[in-house]
Amino acid sequence: MIDLKFKYSELIGKLFNEAPFEPEIAIVLGSGLGNFAERVNAVKSIPASTLPGYPVSTVQGHQGFIHFAKYENKKLLIFQGRIHFYEGYKLSECILPAFIAEQFKVKYFLLTNAAGGINPDFTPGDLMLITSINAISLKKELAEFFGAISLEQKNRFLDFPSKEFNKIIIESSLDEKIFLKEGNYLFGKGPSYETPAEIQMYAKAGADSVGMSTVHEAIYGAVVGMKVSAISTITNLASGISKNKLSHSEVIETSKFVEKKFERLVKRIISNVD
Ligand code: HPA
Repeated sequence: MIDLKFKYSELIGKLFNEAPFEPEIAIVLGSGLGNFAERVNAVKSIPASTLPGYPVSTVQGHQGFIHFAKYENKKLLIFQGRIHFYEGYKLSECILPAFIAEQFKVKYFLLTNAAGGINPDFTPGDLMLITSINAISLKKELAEFFGAISLEQKNRFLDFPSKEFNKIIIESSLDEKIFLKEGNYLFGKGPSYETPAEIQMYAKAGADSVGMSTVHEAIYGAVVGMKVSAISTITNLASGISKNKLSHSEVIETSKFVEKKFERLVKRIISNVD
């Protein structure tokens, strides 16, 4: 049995000691979206490397910081840098941002990521609100993880995405006149980008976008009762759909290009939550 509270007791103790306030909203910043942390008022920034047991992300565009920040008097917990399954970490490590948010009794949990576009209506630079996830390739690990952790209450109905939070996000996009696409996000284990044949199969399975993060954090967050929603930045067309060779630098470049739009949307979402 993995007791997460025991496993991460030192880390949580240190965070509780350093926390300047009790955050209401937690945000995980995806690949290339880390600069958002500098656009809000950081009250306390803690390098992940100073937290005992916090895995250090090895991916470019994923600075490892946890920020306690404020925007329009809303108290935020921002994860700049995430822990990926393809880096070889276990699920109990990949869900750490969700676990930390849970310990702080955060109400709203917003996940963001970079994803490849499969839906032919998508173009790089689009933002996509996730309406459902396909985590089929992770079922074995999820069953082992959730079977092994001591959750007080195991909820079999996956309440993700949160209807209430998605409504706030859609209203925020309308307020900002940002065209928010919607669709299914499919989790690929990586570590490499998909092959064209895999993308053909995923398209047939109804996937609109593909990426290598988010689903485990979303599932953990929803199971423990947070209101969880997620937004993808379509940074590239998925393998075989695009004529160009996929690269992490393309992902980072497109994120830079959508940064302003992303910032406006997320700030409006923060303003609009109660
Ligand atoms: N595939 C998987 N993950 C990704 C992609 C992609 O095309 N783009 C950004 N993250």
